[in-house]
Amino acid sequence: MGFAKVAANLPGPKAAEIIAVLKRNCYDSTFSYPLVIDGGQGCVIRDSDGNQFLDFTSNIGACPLGYGHPDVIHALAGMAQNGAHKIAGQDFYCREHADLSEKFLSVLPEGFKTFFVNSGAEAVENAVKIAYRKRMKDGMPVLPGVSCTGAFHGRTLGTLSFTFSKPVQKAGFPELPVLRIKFCKEDSDPEIDSIGRMLEQNKVAFVISEVIQGEGGYSVASKKFMQNLRKQADAHGVPLILDEVQSGMGRTGKWWAFEHYDVKPDIMSTAKALQVGAAAFRSDLDPGQQGVLSSTWGGGSRIDMAIGAAIIDAIKRDKLLYNAHVMGGRLKKGLQDLIGKGGVIDVRGIGLMVGIEFDTKESRDAVLARMFRKGLLLLPAGQKAMRAIPPLIITAEEVDEGLEIATSVLS
Ligand SMILES: Cc1ncc(COP(=O)(O)O)c(C=O)c1O
Repeated sequence: MGFAKVAANLPGPKAAEIIAVLKRNCYDSTFSYPLVIDGGQGCVIRDSDGNQFLDFTSNIGACPLGYGHPDVIHALAGMAQNGAHKIAGQDFYCREHADLSEKFLSVLPEGFKTFFVNSGAEAVENAVKIAYRKRMKDGMPVLPGVSCTGAFHGRTLGTLSFTFSKPVQKAGFPELPVLRIKFCKEDSDPEIDSIGRMLEQNKVAFVISEVIQGEGGYSVASKKFMQNLRKQADAHGVPLILDEVQSGMGRTGKWWAFEHYDVKPDIMSTAKALQVGAAAFRSDLDPGQQGVLSSTWGGGSRIDMAIGAAIIDAIKRDKLLYNAHVMGGRLKKGLQDLIGKGGVIDVRGIGLMVGIEFDTKESRDAVLARMFRKGLLLLPAGQKAMRAIPPLIITAEEVDEGLEIATSVLS
């Protein structure tokens, strides 16, 4: 115990100075509280003034092994003297690209191929392009994609069309053609079969969905809803894209959240924990012709690819899927005991992807700020939810200290 150690006044002087520069020079994006990250060890982040925070965000899943992990340090050290750490990875080949592809494909459904890019949004963009490409081969005109209410697929212009989580993100930007269905969380939802009607009435290029909505509020899809998407996409010959940018790479206790639903995608996007973005697709959907997909750094960010490969190895070797399942259960149970306190109305999720819903945005924001001041990091999700998404290496002691802080703030 005693992982979190914070001074009474936050931000400290060094953090305040850095934040002031950023506020002066940069677009003020989605910062939730004044944390300036310096370094870290395990599940603990250290800020620039030496305060220690227990991290239940893992940088939105991008640090699944936490901080200072020996395998990550080893991968970094391996590249330190190399001299060519970043190359044009779609124009020249490198070992890290080959290694990551082998390790990544080993945890995907049989018969998949992949294309590496820089970010989650780019992974989705390319997944969408692969789906459109199939329709172009079929000689079809540009058709709409179907996406869900509450969806978040990125903020680039292409992906934004299929994002639907918050009005501020869409704010009058132009869109690719899109049709919406309701993202159903209960098998009993009257809209559970709406995908069938949608595909009977419209010709579409693809269906895209998250399995657990991230930005949209950590909502878990109902099993029947996910299975209907699969069944109807098959019946109408439409590719199903599942966006696992946030939920993938072991976060839910399985490599991919779709494994909890007994469905498989035709095309998938992932990023964050993999360190690079990836569109993965059934081999028969390969666009074939050279140059349809490319990106300077895709496959060429050698440090990130070496770390991504080390992360896959560590998840396998250290049984971190099991740890995500067990620690996720402990965390969810502890948070469920807090329902009714401090405005908490619901706790949901799978594995180490847990959402806490509040009665109002104001209660959520106030609790988030107080947790920060007590040394526990969480992040907002959706309009009035909070996400707990700690590193996959988290221990029972760390879960319990986080719960203790959450209890003291909420009581
Ligand atoms: C499901 C999902 N798709 C796409 C994205 C976009 O990823 P990035 O922010 O790396 O562009 C995110 C990011 O949060 C995400 O959660």
